[in-house]
Amino acid sequence: MKKIAVFTSGGDAPGMNACIRAVVRGAIYHGIEVYGIRRGYNGMISGDIFEMTSQSVSNIVQRGGTVLKSARSKEFMTPEGRKKAYENLMSNGIEGLVAIGGNGTFTGAEVFYNEYQIPTVGCPGTIDNDLYGTDYTIGFDTAVNTSLEAIDKIRDTADSHDRIFFIEVMGRDSGYIAIQSGIGGGAEIVMVPETHTPLKKVVSTLKEGWTRSKSSSIVVVAEGDEEGHAAEIAEKIKEQVGDKLDIRVTTLGHIQRGGSPTAYDRILASRMGLAAVEGLMKGHKNVMAGIVNNDLLYTPFIDTIKKQKPIHDDLLRMVHILSI
Ligand code: F6P
Repeated sequence: MKKIAVFTSGGDAPGMNACIRAVVRGAIYHGIEVYGIRRGYNGMISGDIFEMTSQSVSNIVQRGGTVLKSARSKEFMTPEGRKKAYENLMSNGIEGLVAIGGNGTFTGAEVFYNEYQIPTVGCPGTIDNDLYGTDYTIGFDTAVNTSLEAIDKIRDTADSHDRIFFIEVMGRDSGYIAIQSGIGGGAEIVMVPETHTPLKKVVSTLKEGWTRSKSSSIVVVAEGDEEGHAAEIAEKIKEQVGDKLDIRVTTLGHIQRGGSPTAYDRILASRMGLAAVEGLMKGHKNVMAGIVNNDLLYTPFIDTIKKQKPIHDDLLRMVHILSI
């Protein structure tokens, strides 16, 4: 393999830059030319492809976002879009790809390989931590710490006013950010899509806390919870408890996607970026580089997309026990 290209796709995540840097420098170290593709699959289709050097990734390891920019490409979902992408890769002599993104990115890569057989190795870049085949995804740790900082601040004001806060965090269909920031922030309740928390149970836990003179309560709600968004849930709870409990809602939103990556994310991203390059050199294709129990391994895209990564029951049980 003499020439590869790297791109970031889907929602950005802190640590993507550290990963790009590892891919570029890892490739150059091994004597491989490396190209960058801007705006994910959209750039592949429009031909926004340029050669990268060791200097083009200087001073980015600490930066949030992605210097290659990102997009969710609708055009790549069409056969015409993928044909244009293939032609542009061929005209630049690209023999292998490193795709940094989440399950949408890997779904696209899988379809593309079946049509055009360009080997691709993925790096899991998403704050959601929803990919099978790795304990942690790039950006998750930073997002959890960002949420935690916000939860701590909300706790201060909640405590001063004897209030209950419903705090919504991101994660699409996954409750990982919610459970980890909830435990770290001492939440009284965490609502995640992986398990059903009946509203009756929410009311009784909050009331019990109040009778035990709790001066504040925090309910962390994952955006994908089946009871709805935090605002809707808070409204339903208000209908049941009336004025007895003073309730407020905060949705953290895209603040969770930005910021300088934590040390953990930078190291994870660096390991995975280098592993992607070396994986391509060894002939891997259609796999994601992941780290499980600190061991590097490659998992087929199809498994990373289809297989579930459940939240450990212990974590859910612990929220209840530790918030009494
Ligand atoms: O996948 C990352 C993520 O931030 C999810 O947690 C969230 O549901 C989604 O992306 C938001 O996407 P967008 O930025 O396109 O609104």
